[in-house]
Amino acid sequence: MTRKILVTSALPYANGAIHLGHLVEYIQTDIWVRFQKMRGHACHYVCADDTHGTPIMLRAEKEGIAPEQLIARVWQEHYDDFAAFHVAFDNYGSTNSDETREFAQSIYRTLKTNGLIEVRSIEQFYDPVKNLFLPDRFIKGECPKCHAKDQYGDNCEACGAAYAPTELINPYSAVSGAKPELRNSDHYFFKLSAESCQQFLRQWTKSGSLQPEAANKMQEWLGAEGENKLTDWDISRDAPYFGFEIPDAPGKYFYVWLDAPVGYMGSFKQLCASRGLDFDDYWRPDSKAELYHFIGKDILYFHALFWPAMLQHAGFRTPTKLFAHGFLTVNGTKMSKSRGTFITAASYLKRLDPEWLRYYYAAKLNGSMEDIDLSLDDFIAKVNSDLIGKYVNIASRCAGFISKRFAGKLGAVDASATAEFETAYQADEIALSFENRDYGRALREIMRLADVANLYIAEHKPWEMAKQGDRETDLHTVCSTALTLFRDLTLYLKPVLPKLAEQVEAFLNIPDLTWTDDWSPLAAGHTINEYRHLMTRIDPKQVEAMVDENRQSLEPAPAPAPARHAEHQQHTIAPIAETISIDDFSKVDLRVARIANAEHVEGAEKLLKLTLDIGEAKPRQVFAGIKSAYDPATLVGRLTVMVANLAPRKMKFGLSEGMVLAASGDAPGLFILSPDSGAQPGMKVK
Ligand code: MSP
Ligand code: ZN
Repeated sequence: MTRKILVTSALPYANGAIHLGHLVEYIQTDIWVRFQKMRGHACHYVCADDTHGTPIMLRAEKEGIAPEQLIARVWQEHYDDFAAFHVAFDNYGSTNSDETREFAQSIYRTLKTNGLIEVRSIEQFYDPVKNLFLPDRFIKGECPKCHAKDQYGDNCEACGAAYAPTELINPYSAVSGAKPELRNSDHYFFKLSAESCQQFLRQWTKSGSLQPEAANKMQEWLGAEGENKLTDWDISRDAPYFGFEIPDAPGKYFYVWLDAPVGYMGSFKQLCASRGLDFDDYWRPDSKAELYHFIGKDILYFHALFWPAMLQHAGFRTPTKLFAHGFLTVNGTKMSKSRGTFITAASYLKRLDPEWLRYYYAAKLNGSMEDIDLSLDDFIAKVNSDLIGKYVNIASRCAGFISKRFAGKLGAVDASATAEFETAYQADEIALSFENRDYGRALREIMRLADVANLYIAEHKPWEMAKQGDRETDLHTVCSTALTLFRDLTLYLKPVLPKLAEQVEAFLNIPDLTWTDDWSPLAAGHTINEYRHLMTRIDPKQVEAMVDENRQSLEPAPAPAPARHAEHQQHTIAPIAETISIDDFSKVDLRVARIANAEHVEGAEKLLKLTLDIGEAKPRQVFAGIKSAYDPATLVGRLTVMVANLAPRKMKFGLSEGMVLAASGDAPGLFILSPDSGAQPGMKVK
């Protein structure tokens, strides 16, 4: 029976690069999808960038570009990284699409009609300089428990305490440094506490849609029968916000997590348009199609509570299953920038083969929510011993004889050997392991078969037969048999190693391998192509170099935002100036300054007029030659560094009372300095 299956991976945020942690999920999903496709099912894999929210808005602003420009650039980077790791989406969209907007708005309207939306006024911190309500992570201050400085608005990294941002001592906005004010505003809530939501979620938890660990978590969140533990969910944010406007609520936007999962529908809708699929067939309440979401355990709450409750009450089907996975650790600990183990996809790809990582992750995954560890030594050992030592070796030891001695033509196959192989391996067991996402078990089984094949070769010693003049037929049979076994192993490994499998198909001169029940051997007389190297061993030096590079990139970067994937260039810098004493240096009074205003100067080609606040009674006026690099609107509210004791200078346009610092070099561009978040106007830089 052909199944109709729709599969998603979580939508990566459009404000950062794909790293090896993310890839645990996308590689895992891709393997499952490829397996289903090889089985002949109608399986569709969609994903998209998750593009909305305050962090993305602020980052675009900081870069001086529109959010649309930022998300377009990041989309391309994500897309390229996934393609390089052979993650083959059927559609890769963006939540900032018409399709997603329409679904988000219509779902909202239906929920509203069903009485599940409520408006309430809430009190929240507001940044009076940037004129925006601050999400918790953009508020910092002193921990109310242990008094550690510069802690985030919701929890303390020093003592682990959790609190409300209003409890912070001396709170400040991490965006502008300003002291936040409490302000009231109307927010829209999805009434998750409603009886119908509670009841539905209790029943859904029992329906088998969740892994046992996830179902336990749900029980915890839902509380005992009769206990009403769920609270309503705040789904609105005030302007300015980068997202979708809420219908009939001017100045109110959907919170990013409202439209993010709707992005699954939006992306699938695009696929329907390009492939002529029927959207409703997959999404109506009585749909017979299967719907699976692969997600990390950190976002289970959104997918197990909000999302199914939304779908259920908006007239759509709910997911067949959620497949939650654990987090990646590297060498036993959290990925770390200082250890060089926070590795981006792009930096891995510079030196290492993506299929090595696919194989290693597959070997580690078992379909549970446990964390998985990338031990770099084990990674090298496993790939080299399994993939090269056991699998590739079969072909490299036998193929040469076929080309050189038998003009590329295969001979008869030793039926007793392949029969023995077939009973030794259990195709159905391997398939079941893939189906259950227990890839580790599948690979152990496959490697056991590779052992059987290697044993066959070792027993028959084709290299010795080749030296004896009278064993041509035996040599032909042994090599042809081994290559048939190699074909079978390749079929099993294909969901994990799609590129390698493609090379093998070309080498064996056979059609695309699919998961058939027909295991007939490669036919006698079939011509294969000359064997070319399929895969090399991992050189530990390559791994070391990658880790070193990631560690080094922590040190101050010489040039801002280097072009992605650009080759490393050796460039010369201007000669360093004459040595000065610390006393000379301390004559320069450098201060953190807040750009209170920035504007164009009538008639000036290069200058912007800045109003700088360094905590004095009267702000400074400074003319800065940065017009070519900055739109004044994007500078307002930013912190920078100024020379505060420079003699005032009369200019054509007025008095300049200081100087802002900016970096420039031979490469194009001009970059003003920014202090780390937490710095306050007037602080001395020394
Ligand atoms: N944008 C949200 C998801 C919205 S889905 C409607 C998000 N994005 S994310 O970029 O932070 O993460 C994307 C996926 O990668 C999530 O499923 C997350 O769990 C997973 N991972 C991110 N870092 C990870 C590890 N270090 N290890 C394993 N998976 C990780 O969450
Ligand atoms: Zn603390």
